[in-house]
Amino acid sequence: MTYEDFQKLCHERRSVRYFNHKPMTKEEVLQLLEIARLSPSVENTQPWHFHVIMNEILRTKLMESSCYGNFVAGAGAFIVVTCDRMRSPTAKTLWNPRELEYSCIAAMEHILLGAMAMGIGGSWVSLHHGPVHSLLKLSASQSVIGGIMLGRFRRGEEKASTEHDRRPLAEIYTMHH
Ligand SMILES: Cc1cc2nc3c(=O)[nH]c(=O)nc-3n(C[C@H](O)[C@H](O)[C@H](O)COP(=O)(O)O)c2cc1C
Repeated sequence: MTYEDFQKLCHERRSVRYFNHKPMTKEEVLQLLEIARLSPSVENTQPWHFHVIMNEILRTKLMESSCYGNFVAGAGAFIVVTCDRMRSPTAKTLWNPRELEYSCIAAMEHILLGAMAMGIGGSWVSLHHGPVHSLLKLSASQSVIGGIMLGRFRRGEEKASTEHDRRPLAEIYTMHH
C-alpha cells in the first residue's frame, strides 16, 4: 500500500451514525478484531478486550448509557472496548499506567479505519463507565474505554458531515530545532 492509498483512507474515514439496518456478519466483525490485535500497545501488553454485543436487550441498555446513543439500535454491530489494567508487563512496572488505556484507543482506530476500508461505516460512542461496567460484569481492574458502532452506510452517509472540518496544519504543530 502506498502513502497515497493510506492518505485517501484517512481522508475518507468519517464518523457514520446512521446505517441501513442490515446486520454485519460475524466474519466481518472478526476481520476487524483481527486487525485490532495488530495495534501497538505499551510494552506489547495488549490489554484490550472486545465485547461484541449481539443481544438486543443488552444493546438497548448500553445505548441508554451512551452520550448520543439513539443510533446504536440500528447499527449492524456494537463493540465495547475494555482495558485490563492488570496486564502490566512481567517483572516491569509501567512508567505511565494510563498507557494501557491509550493502547486500547490505538486498537479502536485500527477498527475504524479497517471498517472504512471494508466499506463499512462506524463511529466512536462515548459510554458512561459506571453502568456499562456493571452491565458487562467487569472486574475492578477492567475499565471501559468506549464503544464502536458499525454498519452499512445508509445512502448519503458516506459524505462528510459539517463536523469533519479540521484545524489548519500550521496551527497544530511546533517544530523544535
Ligand atoms: C473520544 C471520542 C468520543 C466520541 N464520542 C462520540 C459519541 O458519543 N457519539 C458520536 O456520535 N460520536 C462520537 N465521536 C465522534 C466524533 O464526534 C467525531 O470523530 C468528530 O465529530 C469528527 O468527525 P469525523 O469523525 O467524521 O471526522 C467521538 C470521537 C472520539 C474520538
